[in-house]
Amino acid sequence: MAAHVTAVINQKGGAGKTTLAMNLAAGLARRQQTVLVDLDPQGSARQWASLGSEAFPAPVKQIVGPWDARSLHQGFKNYRHVVLDCPPSLDSHASQAALRACDVALIPVLPSPVDLWASLRLPEEIEAARKDNPGLRAYIVLNQLEPKSAISSAMHHALADFGMPVLAATIRRRAIYRGAALEGVSVYQMGNRAAPAVAEFEAIINEVIAS
Ligand SMILES: Nc1ncnc2c1ncn2[C@@H]1O[C@H](COP(=O)(O)OP(=O)(O)OP(=O)(O)O)[C@@H](O)[C@H]1O
Ligand SMILES: [Mg+2]
Repeated sequence: MAAHVTAVINQKGGAGKTTLAMNLAAGLARRQQTVLVDLDPQGSARQWASLGSEAFPAPVKQIVGPWDARSLHQGFKNYRHVVLDCPPSLDSHASQAALRACDVALIPVLPSPVDLWASLRLPEEIEAARKDNPGLRAYIVLNQLEPKSAISSAMHHALADFGMPVLAATIRRRAIYRGAALEGVSVYQMGNRAAPAVAEFEAIINEVIAS
């Protein structure tokens, strides 16, 4: 069976792509064989995985040279899930190829209209990619939500203008996410103190991938 490919993409820097990709890959790895592909020349995912005292639950790989959906599936044919951590640029080959190779695109967005405005080209790029990849499903994932503070009406308007479905599952701002990166692990390796964060990732997986 062909691997299920999830691309984590947003040209806005610091929106939470690598945080989402790494923890998602770790959650998927508990279910089936999963690989994380670090498409960002910054190499943050690879660095993150290298910090842990044990191997990261999903191997982190890189791709050298141009690639497409076919070569991605061929190269990772032993995996059931492929998670792509994209660079903060839509003009790179990696981002363009990722949108054409993925089943699902997850777009982490900080809960501020200003951050969303920085990503306005994404819906167009997703539409363009659907010409080659008609089954592509794309969702916004709200990241770094503050406990107790509701999403502003300005943000609701900005999300409506963006015109892309928003996952019901969201990610809160939690120190444990930064801690996981520093320790080179995912929240799934951090015991009880990370249970709320694990629950957030289980909700994302159940809403968009496992169903
Ligand atoms: N939900 C969260 N709670 C707390 N900190 C977070 C959360 N999500 C991300 N961060 C922190 O925000 C910073 C940016 O996150 P991350 O590196 O995942 O973003 P990115 O989109 O991959 O960035 P880049 O565009 O540079 O690749 C990191 O320090 C990360 O630990
Ligand atoms: Mg990143």
